[in-house]
Amino acid sequence: MTKVKSMIRVLPANVVFAALPGERVVDAVRRAGYRLPYACRRGGCGACLAWLEVGVVDYLSPVADELLEAAHTDRSSGRPCLPCQAVPRGDITIRLEEGCRLVRIFGGGTDFAADDGAAGD
Ligand code: FES
Repeated sequence: MTKVKSMIRVLPANVVFAALPGERVVDAVRRAGYRLPYACRRGGCGACLAWLEVGVVDYLSPVADELLEAAHTDRSSGRPCLPCQAVPRGDITIRLEEGCRLVRIFGGGTDFAADDGAAGD
């Protein structure tokens, strides 16, 4: 039996994904059949940048701190995080950047854009 470690809520779609112990956010979302934006998957490009509104994440590999610091000065709420490397430490809530989409990988279901409003609220 697989043991869930934490839940990841993705806003504004308000969709919740289960993360396994040690699982990165993008991998937990992919396992559930969705895709968050990303490119390098190494914490170096910022393509996956999202906003951590609730909870704490750990980075098991080094990430580009300058990306997080630069993003932090641009916004007053939430903390920047890089879901490609972020591992939830307990339940978390992240908010996608404007213009980003939570996309269903295998078709069917619903895609969610960051500016679609809060489906399921
Ligand atoms: S995909 Fe490049 S920093 Fe996350």
